[in-house]
Amino acid sequence: MVQSGIIRLLEEMTLKEKIGQLQQLPGSCFEEDFVLTGPENFMNFTEEDLILAGSVLSITGAGKLKGIQKRFMEKHPHHIPLIFMADVINGYKTIFPIPLGQGAGFNPALTEAGARVAAREASAAGIQLFFSPMADLVRDPRWGRVMESTGEDPYLNSVFARASVEGYQGKKGRDGRADLKRKGSVAACVKHFAGYGAAMAGRDYNTVELSERTLRDEYLPAYQAAVEAGVETVMTSFNLMNRIPASGNAHLMREILREEWGFDGVLISDWAAIGEMVNHRVAENEKEAAFLAIRAGVDIDMCTRCYAGNLESLIEEGRVPESLVDEAVLRVLNLKNRLGLFEDPYKDADEEEEKTILLCEENRAEARKAASESFVLLKNEGILPLEDLEDAALIGPFADSGMIYGAWSIFAEKEDSVTIEEGLRKAGWKGRMAAGCVLSTDYPKVGMGGAQCFVEKDEARDEKLLNGALKLAKKAGKVILTIGELNIMTGEASSRGMLDIPSMQMKLLRKVAEVNPNIITLLFTGRPLDLREIAALSKAVLVVWQPGTEGGNAVSDVLTGKESPSGKLPMSFPYCVGQVPVFYNEMSTGRHYEPGNPDQFVSRYADIPNAPLYPFGFGLSYSKFEISEVSLSGDTLHLGAGDVLQASVTVRNTGSREAKEVVQMYLRDDVSSTARPVRELKGFEKISLKPGEERKVSFTIREEMLAFTGSDDRRRAEKGSFTVYVGNSSETENSAGFILS
Ligand code: NOJ
Repeated sequence: MVQSGIIRLLEEMTLKEKIGQLQQLPGSCFEEDFVLTGPENFMNFTEEDLILAGSVLSITGAGKLKGIQKRFMEKHPHHIPLIFMADVINGYKTIFPIPLGQGAGFNPALTEAGARVAAREASAAGIQLFFSPMADLVRDPRWGRVMESTGEDPYLNSVFARASVEGYQGKKGRDGRADLKRKGSVAACVKHFAGYGAAMAGRDYNTVELSERTLRDEYLPAYQAAVEAGVETVMTSFNLMNRIPASGNAHLMREILREEWGFDGVLISDWAAIGEMVNHRVAENEKEAAFLAIRAGVDIDMCTRCYAGNLESLIEEGRVPESLVDEAVLRVLNLKNRLGLFEDPYKDADEEEEKTILLCEENRAEARKAASESFVLLKNEGILPLEDLEDAALIGPFADSGMIYGAWSIFAEKEDSVTIEEGLRKAGWKGRMAAGCVLSTDYPKVGMGGAQCFVEKDEARDEKLLNGALKLAKKAGKVILTIGELNIMTGEASSRGMLDIPSMQMKLLRKVAEVNPNIITLLFTGRPLDLREIAALSKAVLVVWQPGTEGGNAVSDVLTGKESPSGKLPMSFPYCVGQVPVFYNEMSTGRHYEPGNPDQFVSRYADIPNAPLYPFGFGLSYSKFEISEVSLSGDTLHLGAGDVLQASVTVRNTGSREAKEVVQMYLRDDVSSTARPVRELKGFEKISLKPGEERKVSFTIREEMLAFTGSDDRRRAEKGSFTVYVGNSSETENSAGFILS
């Protein structure tokens, strides 16, 4: 529809109809057994809401959605279609590694390709908008949602946020917008704006306390990268920002997002987040919460009736100008128009295509690549890759489990996954397998899926399982041990105080180690864990995260050496829980501690090291790489001149296998008007080298990479000396210096 048509439509709509566009309903409202005002329906939606709503979330299936859309539009006074939105995070049916695993892949091209696969699959099933990417910076592994992020680094997160948006929507055209009408594209929604990843003590939905500088320099860049990539929508977060809930925070939404960044798309609240301002005690009731949210700039109310029940009276009372509502409605209508829904309200929904493209070979192949590149080898005492599969026993509760995808894979079926056992069998393994224990008898029955994860203790069963595994382990040359967190121990509402694995699994590891020292641990996890004992008892530790549909094939590719591990940690793995949050890009303190320094009064723990067990950017390979000294194309950049420096190294594969390595560039501002991180990732490149092969890798250093929020609150680079580090982990000391003059 042409823009004038949209304006005309807006003018013709009644106020109630307009407010309807700002109402998002849960999918359950459209299920046949939905009880409109039953006791469980705490949202109390009305008959009228169901006729006038603007969008719906979390329902899928081409046939079903077409039916819902058709019936809905027939009843709607202006026949305006709904937008079907859903949480498609790391895949729809073909599941890719969890985002944290994708971050470990350090390969944004794979993430973009994966996002395209997800968009093609889900759009065939009728979904038109994804609540993804999650661009929250995460530093505290107790927070269950770290699995939804790509980690602790602003630059890494920005690169991945951009890759996801471009994968979902397509790249921006000359008009600055992606072509959402294109078949197989969906609108993206970057979330959770802003700073949700800083939930205090890692407890979900908890308070956030961030300085404006930390917010701007570290937490905001990834959301901004998504906006620059053309993301169509932004979701608010549940937390406070400077003691104002994000969903009522005009500084975040009007000043930063809209005015500074020029975002003109749709802002949607997180689930019930407008209403929750009453619980935050900044609004007396839902009406006041609606007032705060609309004034601060939230367009769509997800799943409460705060807008539907109150905007009309707020306008009548003159507290909210109708023009504010009109602006929000216009943005929603524009989004519908860009999706092409006024011409074709079903967009790509297609039952036939659903049958052919969901989980097709091509999609699975992409997921397999993404999974194998996401694995991080933390330890290897010469045991991997496996020269001889035959003498290996496969043990552990994940060995034949299809539940190897992450918490948000709500549309996936575990039957579609390739299990570790299946993957190894396909690679020719004929050995034996034993679970050894159930997944968990001690994980509490809370969180999104706690109850499903939990199995009652049964001594006879547990002993039988353990003995069966030990019998196998004794006879085997080596043991591939699959242990870790089940997906539902991570994700929303799954914060943990202990960074361990369930006790039954730990017992299994200890017992197996007593009879066979050759343990290769495959660690399934959605967060960094305390791996001290696990690493000590294993000859090799391969972090496989929650690898997705093709997990079994990808694991066999890496164990057998068909692929060398090339993942790097996107989040530091702490020494122990007491150390968190621990992250590489911390500030310098006034009493800096260097290991070995005998001084008492320095910033250190008395009983544990300062350094994490495994740092950001770390990951081993089956090959070896030599990285030359850093050579700089010059020693000076000139402020405001737009010139650049090249920092180059030569990387040589000195091992005997073809392998990939992630070359990482970090910058350090030696002295600045406000404290700066000790170093910051500003570039990386994943390269593949044959044995004996070498390649020059160059990074361009530009002035804007040196910018930060200075003591005058302006973002800019300051003159002075800088250090550039290039290596294969955040701990590299391979460096050179330059000046910004
Ligand atoms: C709440 C979560 O915080 C958000 O990430 C998700 O997209 C919405 N619910 C919708 O399911």
